[in-house]
Amino acid sequence: MKQFKRTTVTSALPYANGPVHIGHLAGVYVPADIYVRYLRLKGEEVLFIGGSDEHGVPITIKARKEGVTPQDIVDRYHNIIKRSFEEFGISFDVYGRTTSKVHAETASEFFKTIEGKGGFIEQESEQYYDEEAGQFLADRYITGKCPHCGSEGAYGDQCEKCGTSLSPTDLIDPRSAISGSKPVMRRTKHWYLPLDRHEAWLRQWILEEHKEWKPNVYGQCKSWLDMGLQPRAVSRDLDWGIPVPVPGAEGKVLYVWFDAPIGYISNTKELLPDSWEKWWKDPDTRLVHFIGKDNIVFHCIVFPAMLKAEGSYILPDNVPANEFLNLEGDKISTSRNWAVWLHEYLADFPGKQDVLRYVLTANAPETKDNDFTWRDFQARNNNELVAIYGNFINRALVLTHKFFEGKVPACGTLDDYDRQTLEEFANVKAEMERLLDNFRFRDAQKEAMNLARIGNKYLADTEPWKLAKTDMERVATIMNLALQIAANLAIAFEPFLPFSSRKLRGLLHMDTFRWEDLGRTDLLPAGLQLSKPELLFEKIEDAAIEAQVQKLLDTKKANEQAARKADPVKAPVAFDDFEKVDIRVGTVLECKPVPKSKKLLQFRLADGLGERTICSGIAPYYPNPEELVGTQVCFIANFEPRKMMGIESQGMILSAVDADGRLVLVQPRAKVADGATVG
Ligand code: MF3
Ligand code: ZN
Repeated sequence: MKQFKRTTVTSALPYANGPVHIGHLAGVYVPADIYVRYLRLKGEEVLFIGGSDEHGVPITIKARKEGVTPQDIVDRYHNIIKRSFEEFGISFDVYGRTTSKVHAETASEFFKTIEGKGGFIEQESEQYYDEEAGQFLADRYITGKCPHCGSEGAYGDQCEKCGTSLSPTDLIDPRSAISGSKPVMRRTKHWYLPLDRHEAWLRQWILEEHKEWKPNVYGQCKSWLDMGLQPRAVSRDLDWGIPVPVPGAEGKVLYVWFDAPIGYISNTKELLPDSWEKWWKDPDTRLVHFIGKDNIVFHCIVFPAMLKAEGSYILPDNVPANEFLNLEGDKISTSRNWAVWLHEYLADFPGKQDVLRYVLTANAPETKDNDFTWRDFQARNNNELVAIYGNFINRALVLTHKFFEGKVPACGTLDDYDRQTLEEFANVKAEMERLLDNFRFRDAQKEAMNLARIGNKYLADTEPWKLAKTDMERVATIMNLALQIAANLAIAFEPFLPFSSRKLRGLLHMDTFRWEDLGRTDLLPAGLQLSKPELLFEKIEDAAIEAQVQKLLDTKKANEQAARKADPVKAPVAFDDFEKVDIRVGTVLECKPVPKSKKLLQFRLADGLGERTICSGIAPYYPNPEELVGTQVCFIANFEPRKMMGIESQGMILSAVDADGRLVLVQPRAKVADGATVG
């Protein structure tokens, strides 16, 4: 294993088009923060880079919807997101943004360098263009009918109803989401990163030299590489983004996935204008990207290819991507508001950042998707944080105040049980290191909790409160040891629970605080005055949990109601087209079920000119069809005649159907002449 001098840690730049939720925190930011805090505590040189990803089409769509500028949108969410991260103790050294000047310069230079080396190919292709709006249409800006499930309103990149990923040309009857007009094909030129040229070294580098990457990451890379890499467009026809910095590229910007990862570099520059290069170009620097699984291909294949093409940068040493966190069994979804938003959590559970951090790490989706439930949240708080860690610390402090006026007593001779206890926690440090170095944060946190368990058990077994009357010297030894374990806990938990760890250090008046001290039993000198006990954690009552569960139930209900809303309106038709349909009123002379058909009713109608027969598939909704005799219905008079169950049907009777599938005939409220036209 190569020895590095320093580590650059990045965490995916969240899109600044909405606030962040527990899924973001669990998948990316808490693990990255744990890792960075651990390295800092070890005294290593480390830089933690974050920031907002402020380009991309969804931001422009949101802006258009709200009638504001994309800049307004990113200003709003950048600040909300930044604040949430601060509040949860995500300890970035810098939290920048991709709309900064430094970033535009850095990304442009990066592009120009690759361009200068002939690292791109330029290619023309046909793309949808909105002639009314006078612009090319991003995939998301084209809607139409899904070729798979037939639902209207599918996007040019995906149908949200059936989940199929699409390309704009798959859509049936495509429309521009900007003007509603029918888009036309137009030629346009774009810059492509020829990933195929990079395939050979990427294969060697990932599949041979980085077998240690997490199986989910390695596996995804392998399947991409095995499919064969294709050139990828790195420019777009859009007016939101960084202009493509070469002549002849008017109206084109860098694709968001080209500029965003360069944001890691720009944000470093923002923080360290004079010394940023050593964090990105020195081979003794280790680069680690924390991301979610949907970002794997960009960080393991595309960005490394960009870095290589540019030529002066190091490549990532590891990309510990996580899977997804679900919420109460359902996929977290911004559009369905199925999420626990960080700012809402803090409003409902003020001061309880560490509880959420703890639960998210305990359930981290490290190897597979995982589930967050409020019951589990409560159980982990009450049964682990309160009952084990908090309880142990509280007992240790209370007893020290009771028997020793709050001063650390001197340690006497150890007995066998003391030594056995010490042995139990002697290897906690090595074990935690092994786990943390391998990005196994769940298990590492379990080790820390295990240390608290050891402490708890030690006090429960030795029962110092009973010995106080007979053997104060023994009590002093027990309490000394218990307090040393407490001090160890402040270190072991600092990467995971920084707020409680700081509080605990304050209570214990700890001045040394280094990872290498973990496992020592002389962290608190005899005679040191400790603070009055304060609870590290408090019980979370059922009512608070029920309120959260209710909130989610309400969201579910609202979503179901919204889903029952009417279908989106179909593409517009010209009046001339509408006029071609001849809709009329007729009186029902006879109405009876068609033999051997469950669905069909056979109508005989007086239509003003004579009589006609129409079959209609509405039998399930009209169990007593004879009751319709004498009423008037609307029908399409010039519908092409069709044979149904051997009967020629001369038209189509109109009915209305709602989203629940309830059907009623469309009938005039007052009698009109048979043959009256409808329009
Ligand atoms: N904004 C992207 C997402 O949320 C992540 C960008 S990571 C970066 O999926 F490398 F591009 F910055
Ligand atoms: Zn579909």
